[in-house]
Amino acid sequence: MSLKKCKEKLTQILDEYGKENEALLPCLHAACEKCGYLSEETISFLAEKLNLPRVEVYSVATFYSMFNLKKTGKYIIRVCVSLPCYLKGSRKILEILKDELNIEINQTTQDKKFTLEAVSCLGLCEQAPAMMINKEVYGNLTPKKVRQIVRQYKLSTTERSLKAPLQNPNSKIEGAG
Ligand code: FES
Repeated sequence: MSLKKCKEKLTQILDEYGKENEALLPCLHAACEKCGYLSEETISFLAEKLNLPRVEVYSVATFYSMFNLKKTGKYIIRVCVSLPCYLKGSRKILEILKDELNIEINQTTQDKKFTLEAVSCLGLCEQAPAMMINKEVYGNLTPKKVRQIVRQYKLSTTERSLKAPLQNPNSKIEGAG
């Protein structure tokens, strides 16, 4: 989405919330979702509209790990590295993703398709080790399953083409485990 469209969307949200401080979080969410990340310009725009110091908008944006302040790939892979996932092998999962994508943590592939992040608990502890790719969740990961998932994303040309095979990774990935 262009910056212009992104600003239009933010203006809609601001109208809804009456430009009160409560609009800040919904706006940051919308900006990340619609624009892909929080650019300097978006932060300045929100600060101006909400009549907040720029530094305040910036500190809220940096407080929450789900907000990206750098341009990200089409797919953001978030691997949980909190203790339950760590104990079940999240480090290995990250190593495999780094190898498959040929990037390090917090980097984006050259084709701008993937960004890899190590994050704290995703709320999927019962399925540790777990990761998310955009809004899709993947649990009970094994090295083999992770390679299969990421290779399907690499091959995909549209989000829709991914939904069917990957919706329930615990049961639909053949040969997982
Ligand atoms: S510890 Fe990994 S999802 Fe909660």
